[in-house]
Amino acid sequence: METLTVLRDKRGPSDSWQEDLSRRADAIDPTLDLEAEIRRLKAEKNAVILAHYYQDGELQDLADYVGDSLALAQAAAKTDASVIVFCGVHFMAETAKILNPDKPVLLPDLDAGCSLADRCPIDVYSEWLKQYPGHTVINYINSSAAVKAVSDIICTSSNAVDIVAQLPKDEPIVFGPDRHLGRWVEKQTGRKMVLWPGFCIVHEQFNARRLQKLIDAHPDATIIAHPECEEAVLDRADHIGSTLSLLKFVQSHPEIKKFIVATEHGIFHQMKRSRPDAEFICSPPNSGCDCAMCPYMRLNTLEKLYLCLRDGYPQIEMDEDLRVRAERSVVRMLEMSKHLAPVQQKGD
Ligand code: 13P
Ligand code: SF4
Repeated sequence: METLTVLRDKRGPSDSWQEDLSRRADAIDPTLDLEAEIRRLKAEKNAVILAHYYQDGELQDLADYVGDSLALAQAAAKTDASVIVFCGVHFMAETAKILNPDKPVLLPDLDAGCSLADRCPIDVYSEWLKQYPGHTVINYINSSAAVKAVSDIICTSSNAVDIVAQLPKDEPIVFGPDRHLGRWVEKQTGRKMVLWPGFCIVHEQFNARRLQKLIDAHPDATIIAHPECEEAVLDRADHIGSTLSLLKFVQSHPEIKKFIVATEHGIFHQMKRSRPDAEFICSPPNSGCDCAMCPYMRLNTLEKLYLCLRDGYPQIEMDEDLRVRAERSVVRMLEMSKHLAPVQQKGD
């Protein structure tokens, strides 16, 4: 069954993937300069490293491209490197594989999943879709290859509003798997869509009541939020957008000295780098934890990046039939967003 795609990924010679990983990690010489080794291996293998803004700063610093989901998909579509190493989560590496069937696509930790993709299993999703014949199916890129294969168009948080706005006004749309992004797109475009009830565990934990208290304590702060947050949080935001959009907002407003940020903590690395004069405060969560770290993104580490480059696994593997079916909706997204975010190289 297609939901088992991940189990067919090339995890290496051992039956127990995590045991094999621990064994190789334990054997790394502690005096080894991992950053230098990664740079050497990258050149030797003609590899490109793509990193999402939610990765640890040390991984972002080693990457050739750092970006949001759209910019990274665009970079994957364009690369002429022989090997792609994805510092991000499984659906991102899978998208790179969909676009590059002949290249090895490595993911430092294959267990780096995503709550949105996991909560939209293809068997349940395709049954649900049967209720909506004649609808255009738009799915967030945070979904499995199998879900992409039953989609008409893929979108990201960067281009979702623009893509929906490009469709004729009377075209019925099913949108999945993030209900908050879907509802925000509905608001921006003024059109109703059928929404799959998925959510991101990181963004849904921001608490609007606590955020309001923080706003009251910092009346000089500007609130920026990712559209995966709940409506009550977004209602309090001055700017809403993808990770790249949030970063660009911070960079293009030197007059603002204090930001309250409602998205994953990894983005603070680039925000602080480009605005050392500004203060960044994390939007408060529901629980006692005072940070917003994606547990899946954090599975990738410097050691695992080194090991996957050195040993050439784990790799993303995909049935060619599934890949071809998933490719249509991803390519359609890239075509429909050519006029949007250009590929950004690190430091752009
Ligand atoms: P963007 O990369 O589109 O900002 O999405 C954030 C996210 O949650 C990625 O998993
Ligand atoms: Fe998925 Fe949320 Fe993590 Fe992004 S931050 S990878 S949407 S769980």
